[in-house]
Amino acid sequence: MRERPANLAEPVVRFDRVTKLFERPGEGTFRAVDDLSLEIHAGTRVALLGKTGCGKSTMFNMIAGLLDPSEGTVTVNGRDPFREFDTFRGKLAVVFQNDRLLPWRTAIGNVEIGLEMLGLAPQERRDMAQRWAVVRMLDSGLHYADISRQTGASTATITRIASWLNHGEGGYRAMLDKLDAASRAGTTPYPVAGER
Ligand SMILES: Nc1ncnc2c1ncn2[C@@H]1O[C@H](COP(=O)(O)OP(=O)(O)O)[C@@H](O)[C@H]1O
Ligand SMILES: [Mg+2]
Repeated sequence: MRERPANLAEPVVRFDRVTKLFERPGEGTFRAVDDLSLEIHAGTRVALLGKTGCGKSTMFNMIAGLLDPSEGTVTVNGRDPFREFDTFRGKLAVVFQNDRLLPWRTAIGNVEIGLEMLGLAPQERRDMAQRWAVVRMLDSGLHYADISRQTGASTATITRIASWLNHGEGGYRAMLDKLDAASRAGTTPYPVAGER
């Protein structure tokens, strides 16, 4: 997703003197993040290390717009992820350390969840989820029949996806490579999704 070009001088994520306090019943106020400032620039990968309870997840929750800082400001691409939550829909994602699969859904049904929340029509999200799943399985060398059984895609659909995946310059593979290169070069504002 490329809505506006990234200004390389501007950090993608910026914490400016951020403090996060939690009220704990019976214990008073707990300071989970204390006067933290940092900048993360496009094209960089940053690891936050710290012992359990030091405030890492609280930082992620503020970046994702799920929590509001008590003091200071958090911005992502210059915007406030908490107050402008909707502008980040479909663009900002968190991958959890353990799986969050819904056991009552099929594999493809789990793949569809994000697209469902973005309001895609059932057929559109099924098509896209199948395409993602099929691409992964083609990459791992699975036979068409197995892919068909596991995703519900017809072999005709799988054939179409396989040719689309590898079709020269305009192919999906080429597009993924381009996006990856752009992301490495820092010319995209955030890691991009291939299709939207
Ligand atoms: N909603 C909350 N209410 C009260 N305390 C919280 C809340 N969320 C986190 N905390 C506390 O804030 C501290 C930091 O938590 P967290 O950010 O989850 O740490 P980490 O991810 O580094 O293990 C912990 O002591 C945790 O108990
Ligand atoms: Mg954590």
